[in-house]
Amino acid sequence: MLSDRELKQKWFDYFQKHGFKKISGYSIIPESDTGVLFTTAGMHPLVPYLLGEKHPAGNKIVNIQKCLRTSDIDEVGDNSHLTCFEMLGCWTLGECDKCAMIRLSYDFITKELKIDKNKVAVSVFAGDENAPRDEEAAKAWKENGIDKVFFLPKENNWWSISGGEGPCGPDTEMFLIKDKPDCSKDCSPACDCGKYVEFWNDVFMEYLVKKQGEKPVKLDRPNIDTGMGLERTLMVINGYDSVYEIGGLKRGIEFVKQKSKVFDERASRIIVDHIRAATFVLGDEKGVVPSNLGQGYILRRLIRRSVNYARKLQLEEGALLELADMFVEEYCLDYPELAKKREFVKDELAKEMQKFSKAIEGGYKEFEKVLSGIERHKQFAAKTGEIVKDIISGKAAFRLYDTFGFPLELTKEMAKERGYQVDEEGFNQEFKHHQDISRTATVGTFKGGLADSSEQTIKYHTACHLLLAGLRKLDPETKQKGSNLTAERLRFDFSFPRKLEKSELEFLEKFVNDAIAKKLPVSCAEMSLDDAKKSGAVGSFENKYGEKVKVYTIGDVSKEICGGPHVENTGVLGIFKITKEESSSAGVRRIKAILE
Ligand code: ALA
Repeated sequence: MLSDRELKQKWFDYFQKHGFKKISGYSIIPESDTGVLFTTAGMHPLVPYLLGEKHPAGNKIVNIQKCLRTSDIDEVGDNSHLTCFEMLGCWTLGECDKCAMIRLSYDFITKELKIDKNKVAVSVFAGDENAPRDEEAAKAWKENGIDKVFFLPKENNWWSISGGEGPCGPDTEMFLIKDKPDCSKDCSPACDCGKYVEFWNDVFMEYLVKKQGEKPVKLDRPNIDTGMGLERTLMVINGYDSVYEIGGLKRGIEFVKQKSKVFDERASRIIVDHIRAATFVLGDEKGVVPSNLGQGYILRRLIRRSVNYARKLQLEEGALLELADMFVEEYCLDYPELAKKREFVKDELAKEMQKFSKAIEGGYKEFEKVLSGIERHKQFAAKTGEIVKDIISGKAAFRLYDTFGFPLELTKEMAKERGYQVDEEGFNQEFKHHQDISRTATVGTFKGGLADSSEQTIKYHTACHLLLAGLRKLDPETKQKGSNLTAERLRFDFSFPRKLEKSELEFLEKFVNDAIAKKLPVSCAEMSLDDAKKSGAVGSFENKYGEKVKVYTIGDVSKEICGGPHVENTGVLGIFKITKEESSSAGVRRIKAILE
């Protein structure tokens, strides 16, 4: 049996021997507003390099990356699905020698992993209107002695980041053939009968999709991106029934079983997966904390879901902290940041558990009340002939969320277990309604006077509008992609195809400082989205702003749809200085600036 440590060692030794340079894994939290909340594959943080930027370690690199994918969260608990996993990756940047990579892959599979070549099948891209059939890859496999080569369409053999934008291309996937009959005459790796289990993927990143929905164009400097899911691979080659027979996951399961009073395999697995994921997220160098937004909300869901299942197993919350500690110990060799953040991980977990625990009893009671309400209504309706469905209303689900801290997904899951559904649309409406109320309230608070530090943050907010106006003088297509403001600095991400020149940065500083020197008034008007559009205001015109929007105008320099708050006059901002300009992700640049 191959252990996780041995596989990692083999991976690095092998690729280093073939000239690849080992680099550390990247953060599990992506750089900026890249459209995904977490790093979902090893290539994700490497996008700028896949698009041509020079990597400091050279053009052949190898690493291991902690990844998190939430799309399968409901599946966790079965044999193979995980939210977080480790991906072994290696890349050739600016070079796409398919034959060489297939040769390397073949040798690694047969000589290092010692898999019989007759038990291996591969799939290659069958071609479509955008890219040709990958005869080259098929030929390379056959020359190496793999005869089970399947040509499959785009759904199976074209790899891109979810959403489709960015570097992409045909791939070749490698499968272990299980000892079982074909499910039909067309049985292939494309079907999910279980005969073919995928464990490795070489992507030939020869293309780029500039904008979602557009046709892929050929990259001048193509790359190879190869990724092997560690847990999946070990499960396949060791012939395990589940990923929970591997390394840290196995020890996690043993620990949970030993500490719980009730036995339930699925619940134990969910706890182990979720606490490991929470440890990776909290223990990341960019660790986020639980909240009701974005990454923080996913983290909150993972922790609260674990607490819910721990209760089922009569597993004390203290044991969940011990479990997190175990994971820090287990994985800090590969991810040293975990050790540095050990206390932070445990403190934040404990805080979140406490918050949830305080409300949880009340929440369970409320949940039961909602169900009995539905039942009573049903009994009553039976007499009148009215039909009452087993659906928890949006209002009730929102109350569970808002007052008792039950993430919608948790309520849905509890409801499902009891044979009920949740009116999600109703929940979303409630959510939006409350968001509008609290947004208005927040703006009110801001107007009502602020602490010094917040005033400084507001100045930075106004400076961001001036900066965007300046950027749009350089390129009218420039769009804001994200921002982060503190009392000390602003960080602003925006779409821009290349590094900014020194002269452009000087232009921006001058542009913003001129606007400050002119002491321009900042005014705010409420109008319909349509009128805002007509007025030429910049901003996202998605519905998220609601019917009425606020438009902030700064003299004749800037007009943006924005919730505020802002200073009343640019004269108070001080002197604007850019401290850094860097890449944030593919096609997105980042400026950091201060006000002195
Ligand atoms: N990026 C490729 C994958 O995630 C290797 O499968």
